[in-house]
Parts: sequence; structure tokens; C-alpha cells
Amino acid sequence: MTPLEHGGRVNAAAKHWGIPRDQWLDLSTGINPNGWPVPDLPPEVWQRLPEPDDGLETLVRQWVGAQADAACVPVAGSQEAIMALPRLRPSCRVGVPRPGYREHGHSWSCAGHQVASLDWAQVSGEDESWLDDLDVLVWINPNNPTGETIEPDRLLRWHQRLQRRGGWLIVDEAFVDGYPELSLGFATGREGLVVLRSLGKFFGLAGVRAGAVLTGPALAQCLQNTIGPWTVSGPARHVMRQALADERWQATTAERLSADSRRLGRLLAAHGLNGSGGSLLFRYVQHPRSAELADALARQGILVRQFDQPPALRFGLPGSEAEWERLAQALAACRMSLTNR
Ligand SMILES: Cc1ncc(COP(=O)(O)O)c(C=O)c1O
Repeated sequence: MTPLEHGGRVNAAAKHWGIPRDQWLDLSTGINPNGWPVPDLPPEVWQRLPEPDDGLETLVRQWVGAQADAACVPVAGSQEAIMALPRLRPSCRVGVPRPGYREHGHSWSCAGHQVASLDWAQVSGEDESWLDDLDVLVWINPNNPTGETIEPDRLLRWHQRLQRRGGWLIVDEAFVDGYPELSLGFATGREGLVVLRSLGKFFGLAGVRAGAVLTGPALAQCLQNTIGPWTVSGPARHVMRQALADERWQATTAERLSADSRRLGRLLAAHGLNGSGGSLLFRYVQHPRSAELADALARQGILVRQFDQPPALRFGLPGSEAEWERLAQALAACRMSLTNR
């Protein structure tokens, strides 16, 4: 199967639109543009093998609000877990949200499972009998790119229903930071409930490849055996520990991102892109001419993420006043009608 496309491909955009790389404003990802400020690292983190008892797991549990006995497996980005989990079950039926982060469905299909796409009308409806057709359900909370959310009570009910038959509920919480009321971190440690967390989005540390899985002990052991030792590098473990311990930065950042996300929604609405949903780190707006609009923005050196089904755009947050101004000017300069209603 061919690899999926993702945001953040500025080199490819530079080539395609003939604009030098350093002139792009990349809004094509949901990564915090003002991420956790990484300090100089001590030389030994580069030189020594990472040690599993460095206290990282305890910090992860505190970060997500997990019980002390919840099993925690640090991973090289939640993507590592997304690719490993399908290898831990015999062929089965898996539900994934659509639209949603497509790597989930892709990984399960590549591993030979039957994958069904679930739309919002189905997952948010009163009737939950569709769960009985699945062995594994993946939900992304909040969903990327739509920002849709499911409340923890409902997710736990789904977990119970699946777990009675040996099924799993996987909740991808890559975008949950800043929404503590949505996280299932407090419930982790039970078998069949798998929570994925990432330091790539809110912390803006996508390049270091850092994340964690919280689940029950048996599944955690299988996952650890599958990925093997040292997949999270010494520098990555060090940076994770420091960033997770920095609660003051996390609190300030949640406030800032919340204000910026609302500001982005207002800016888009002011240019006819009404009704955007999203999360702290991006806005998602359906628009029948999303491809044309993405192209018009790209011609001005602004890269956004465009989706076809349904036609929509996702805008990440500008990181400075100059970038906000540039986006405002580019939206105003788009000569086509931006009205999406
Ligand atoms: C919803 C979601 N989950 C997981 C990932 C993987 O991120 P990472 O491997 O950096 O944790 C992404 C990346 O875009 C994502 O959008």
C-alpha cells in the first residue's frame, strides 16, 4: 500500500508552487507553532542507552491523570503505537472515524484486518448497536480534522460493551491537551482500553517523535515486546520528562492556544469561512471550493490542509503577529467568493 500524505510537506510545496521554502507560512499541521522551549541537553543523553527506570512513566501518568498502576509504554510518537497495535490481534473487524487521522485505518488494513469507516451521524447517534459489529473501535478525541468530541462516559460505555467480547477501544488523544474534561487518562489501566498520547501537538515537539500508550498490563507487555527496547531515544526521553514536568508552561500554553483558536475562527468567519469547528490547535471548515481556495492561498505562500470528502480546509495556528497579518491579507486577497453557506 502507498504511504498516506500528511501536512507539513513544505519542501514538496516549494517545488510544486515554485516558492522558496523559507517564504512559506505552514498552517498545514495542527502543531503548536510556539512549542515547549527545548534547552541544551546533557551530553550523556546522546551517549548512553536510554534507561527504562528514569521516571518518565510516572510523569506520563501524572500528566494524563492515570492511576499509579496504569501500564504506560513510551513510544516514538503515537504513530509508533498506531502501527504496532494492529499486529497484536488476529484478523478482526475495526471501526475508524471518517474523516479522521487516516493512519489508523491504513495500519489496520495493512495488517489484514477488515476496516469500516464510521461517520459522525453514526457515532453520535442514540443507537449504539453498530458496536456489536466491531472487535476494535478507534476514536480520536477531539477528532482530527473535524474537532468532534465524545464525552468520557459514552466512551467508557463503549469500552465495556467491546471488552465483554474481548474487544478494544483505542482512544487517540493526540489533541486532548488543554481539554482535561475530555481525557480518559483517569480510567486507564483496564484491559481493552488503550489511550494514545502525543507530545507532538500541544507541546510542539513533533520532530522528536515522543508519545505514550496507557493501557492494561497484559496489552502493555505485548506492545512493549512488539516494539522492543530503546525505540524512544535518550534525547527524546529527556525532553519528554522536562516538558511534562513543566506544568506552568502547560497552563499558560492552554490559555494562549484557546485564545488563538478563537481568534482564528473569527478571522476565518470575517472572510466568509463561517461555522468552523476544530480544536485548540486548528480550525476545520467545510467549503465546496476547498481545493481552489487551498491553491489560491498556496500561490501566496500559505500552506493549509485540504480534504476532499467532504470538501474542507484545516488551518493551523499562526505563530506570530506577522503571521496573523499575512494570513489576514492572503484571505482578503483571494478573489473568489469565500462564502461557504
Ligand atoms: C490524530 C492524530 N493522532 C496521532 C498522530 C501521530 O502523531 P505523533 O506520532 O507525532 O504522536 C497524528 C499526527 O498528525 C494525529 O493527527
